[in-house]
Amino acid sequence: MVAWASRPSRCHAFVPSRGQAVSDTLEQAADCLRRGELAVIPTETVYGLAANALNAQAVSKIFEVKGRPADHPLIVHVRPDADLSQFAAQVPESANRLRKAFWPGPLTMVLRKSPGVPAITTGRRDTVALRAPNHPIALALLEMLDFPLAAPSANRFMSVSPTTVEDLDGAIRSKACGVVDGGPCQVGIESTVVDLTGEQPAILRPGMISRAQIEAVLGVKVGEPEDLARSPGTHPRHYAPRTKLILKPNVTPEEPGLVFGKPRNLHQLEMQRNPEAYAKRLYSALIELDKMDLPLAFVELPPDGVEWEAIHDRLRRAAQSE
Ligand code: TXA
Ligand code: MG
Repeated sequence: MVAWASRPSRCHAFVPSRGQAVSDTLEQAADCLRRGELAVIPTETVYGLAANALNAQAVSKIFEVKGRPADHPLIVHVRPDADLSQFAAQVPESANRLRKAFWPGPLTMVLRKSPGVPAITTGRRDTVALRAPNHPIALALLEMLDFPLAAPSANRFMSVSPTTVEDLDGAIRSKACGVVDGGPCQVGIESTVVDLTGEQPAILRPGMISRAQIEAVLGVKVGEPEDLARSPGTHPRHYAPRTKLILKPNVTPEEPGLVFGKPRNLHQLEMQRNPEAYAKRLYSALIELDKMDLPLAFVELPPDGVEWEAIHDRLRRAAQSE
């Protein structure tokens, strides 16, 4: 399903989803982006709030709409075959190996920045985060545009990232020039962020591409997130719903929350004991819990194991009270 819904006052008239050609929809989104406006676009991980990454004024709108601090750098989305030396001052061999193995896909690489990328895009850091998203709509847009797209998750700062257009925050939706509906995101949590600027590669944010997979490609150890100066955007409370969450090994039949196995009351949502399926469902489940307006909900802890690392990370942050 592809639909382009735009604000009549600033962009084209609202276009109903049925019967509209995909190419028209994408052309509208591309036009908005070329004019320095924002568009909400699907990626395989979560929906992104996109702007021309090389246009400082366009990028400043992302910070304004998200309420994001100016020192939190954005990911620059590029075509899978992009010449990375346009954006990065150095492209180490490790970056070439990782892009070959995982692009397009949910892997973001932090490299030394080239002067062509505006300082605002990278939170005034001397590094730049690059990723080629694996979603047909995002890929088609990048093909149509002659610039890369800065795109953070399309949520307000510190809240849950949307994985469907229905889960988009009204304020974000109303401030974008338009929204491209690409259906539910297949991965469901944000990309793995790996820093390749140090002596040793290091994971700044775990994601569904695991440390073990990266180590297998690079043939070297990859640092734990805790080893390093923290990634600027990784506040302990992040990805958090309004509902206070408590993580515990077992949720009782009376308690509300996310459970494995069949729900035993109206306020329980069933999660799968499979990391891919769990990740895909997690944010929409948290948003659904929020709609129940509960003071408190519980989350049955998933198993340990590297394939659950990113999910544990998001659950920990979602449950952090301050
Ligand atoms: O899956 C994703 O990565 C989604 C989709 C839309 O692509 N995007 C996303 O963007 O999650 P955002 O802005 O919500 O998170 C970007 C993460 C933050 O943790 C940020 O600190 C880190 O990437 N990051 C970006 N640029 C960086 C840099 N130059 N150095 C270190 N970390 C950086
Ligand atoms: Mg985010």
